Amino acid sequence: MSPSFGGTWTDQKLEILGRYLDAYTTALKSQPFQLTYVDAFAGEGTYLANSDYVLEDYEGLQEFRAGSPRIALEVQDKPFDRLVFVEKDPARCASLRLLEREFPNRNIGIRNEDANSALPAFCATLGNSERAVVFLDPFATQVSWSTVEELARTQKIDCWILFPLMAIARMMPTSREPPDSLALQLDRIFGGRNYWVELYSETPLQLSLLSSEPSQQRLRGSDRIAKRYRERLESVFAKVAPTPRTFRNSKNSPMFELFFCASNPIGARPAVRIADHLLRNW
Ligand SMILES: C[S@@+](CC[C@H](N)C(=O)[O-])C[C@H]1O[C@@H](n2cnc3c(N)ncnc32)[C@H](O)[C@@H]1O
Repeated sequence: MSPSFGGTWTDQKLEILGRYLDAYTTALKSQPFQLTYVDAFAGEGTYLANSDYVLEDYEGLQEFRAGSPRIALEVQDKPFDRLVFVEKDPARCASLRLLEREFPNRNIGIRNEDANSALPAFCATLGNSERAVVFLDPFATQVSWSTVEELARTQKIDCWILFPLMAIARMMPTSREPPDSLALQLDRIFGGRNYWVELYSETPLQLSLLSSEPSQQRLRGSDRIAKRYRERLESVFAKVAPTPRTFRNSKNSPMFELFFCASNPIGARPAVRIADHLLRNW
């Protein structure tokens, strides 16, 4: 079944997140857990059509809309006990502080930091009676694999990850292996060279006869890149929602893949059931 919800892909992403957060706190309502929402790339709380991060991919946004921090604050049935907003840009942090004023009775922490240092620090403080949902919503390739691994290791966190397919495909030329500077970045994103270099294979013999050295090539497209990252996630999380959800731009090119991963072995099955339903239908 194809997703039934209209709007831009940003709307769809946030609709899925909001519905999941609602279902999550409701499902854990009678359990003795303290529930935290962590927005690791929090933005400024709203989207505006002409704000500087409305790139071509954010086309069609002509008004203020609630961003992920506000959506998490407005979860109704059972609100989150604590919200942590991580944002590297100081000006966007200043906008997030307006939310603190608007919701004075809520436990909100704003961290003007890099998500790759704030998240491991957060994981280290999570106690046995705590559970969390983490949303990783970067513009590009900021998320390091070591950060993802830390989240999985807690066994207390459910995680939504927006994986930057187009940015990564651009880092991986199809006719040769990436230069060293990009290879090092890919190592950081995938957690090691083996995990992405196998997307390359030797050029077929007929073609390599035309050049003096056999070269490496990668099949066009980003499906295999998404599949490879999914396999990486499956290797560290208890469960990953099976339905692929690719967000495309107006030229129908894949931009991002949205993944849901659950780290708690007991909670993973019901969490993935809810998330997968949303990935399929919204
Ligand atoms: C796509 S926007 C987030 C949108 C937000 N989730 C929403 O729904 O409104 C990505 C944000 O990540 C911030 N950012 C970029 N690199 C970062 C990093 N390494 N750590 C934390 N935030 C970062 C950017 O300044 C930007 O505000």
